[in-house]
Amino acid sequence: MLQGDTGPRDSFSSKFGVIAAAAGSAIGLGNIWRFPYVAGQNGGGAFLIIYLLFIAAIGIPVMMSEFVIGRSAQLNPVGAFKKIAPGKKWYLIGLLGVVSAFIILAFYTVVAGWTLEYLVQSVKWIIFSGRIGFSEMDNVALKEFFSNHYRGFIDGRWRPILWFAVMMGFTGYIVISGVKNGIEKYAKILMPLLFLLLVILVIRSVTLEGAGEGLVFLFRPDFSLLRETPVKIIIEALGQAFFSLSIGMGTLITYGSYIQKKENLANTAISVAAADTFIAVVAGMAIFPAVFAFGIDPGEGPELVYITLPVIFQRMAGGLIWAFLFFLLLCFAAITSTISVLEVIVAYFSEQLSMSRRNAAILAMISVGFLGVLCAFSEEIFGIFNASPDLLLPLGGFFIVVFIGWFLPKDKSKRELSSDGSHRTRYYNLFLFLVKFVAPLAIAFLFVLGVYSRLITLFPGAN
Ligand code: PFF
Repeated sequence: MLQGDTGPRDSFSSKFGVIAAAAGSAIGLGNIWRFPYVAGQNGGGAFLIIYLLFIAAIGIPVMMSEFVIGRSAQLNPVGAFKKIAPGKKWYLIGLLGVVSAFIILAFYTVVAGWTLEYLVQSVKWIIFSGRIGFSEMDNVALKEFFSNHYRGFIDGRWRPILWFAVMMGFTGYIVISGVKNGIEKYAKILMPLLFLLLVILVIRSVTLEGAGEGLVFLFRPDFSLLRETPVKIIIEALGQAFFSLSIGMGTLITYGSYIQKKENLANTAISVAAADTFIAVVAGMAIFPAVFAFGIDPGEGPELVYITLPVIFQRMAGGLIWAFLFFLLLCFAAITSTISVLEVIVAYFSEQLSMSRRNAAILAMISVGFLGVLCAFSEEIFGIFNASPDLLLPLGGFFIVVFIGWFLPKDKSKRELSSDGSHRTRYYNLFLFLVKFVAPLAIAFLFVLGVYSRLITLFPGAN
């Protein structure tokens, strides 16, 4: 059943379905591709500590706030603010979210396309070599081979564009086919499988010779880099926390609007945040040991995972099969995220601009398609888009917590969080303290610092 004015609004059918769908949105390339390379560029352990702090003190409260807004209004982000705060400008937060959705969907779907490239390459190697494992190549040669493959693939332009279009098409198809059937069904089976596969990779990675250094890098905080570039590290940790949890742009307002009234929103938020964070750390445990074992630079950048994982597969019996499975599941994890982003745009177009879901999805895909091609064509544009969540999402999150902390009457948020009194809300005062003071002040401070430091890098002569 699709939402609209005929019939009841669509909703997730079970508790596990809600968590699976929200976790499906949260867990994706952000955990497995973005987290390791951003952590790698920002010194590892010290970054991780700041990241965890932001997840707990800011991320979870923002996520709960989005759920409260979405479920109480039963609408897309723009419509939700219009309904709860009629005649006020709060709906602009929803619009900011829709804009962020366009930008994120564009570069994210490009990276999602890379998983297809590696998927197809593993099949090709299996077919052409007639083997399921890699041949004996020494590590350096192998690393060269994969980074060359990566470079050739990215610089070739047309294959990234092709894979981007395929991913966009899948995403649109699933979104048009409806919320419950499209998202829940697959998320329930495939997310646990992805986790299992990651654990297998961790086992292989930590048993490589020289792997210990990678674990030290990830878990033993070294604050020297933090002293050198504190602003960059802190801003990127905040941005990564928002990006990874899918918060700050109304995705979870939209998903919140599909959550049934009886569900406990605080529990859901905590479970989703815990699962998301756990997967990021596990991904780090798969990547960094191998990075150090093979002498790859942890600060390599966006290609880090795409050149590290293949070298792990090479050291596994039947490595090509593992590679195939892994990129298949990663591709799926990416899709459960891309659909949640597209859903923001589609819910907005269809509910606010009275378009059919189908037309809304097609229009969104065409416009995102244009931006995505730009990202695939130019590494500069890709870089700008990829960096933008670090500022855009905290900005959205700031207004969301201010709205809940300072504008929405307390009894309303309490009623929503307790499902009209059927769940206990002993945490409520802590929640209120976080959304009223801690989160807004911390975000505002970091946002100003972040904008300032970006301006300085853009115009170095100005100060
Ligand atoms: N959280 C997703 C990930 O970590 O891969 C990316 C994402 C999805 C960001 C949805 C923002 C969003 F609204």
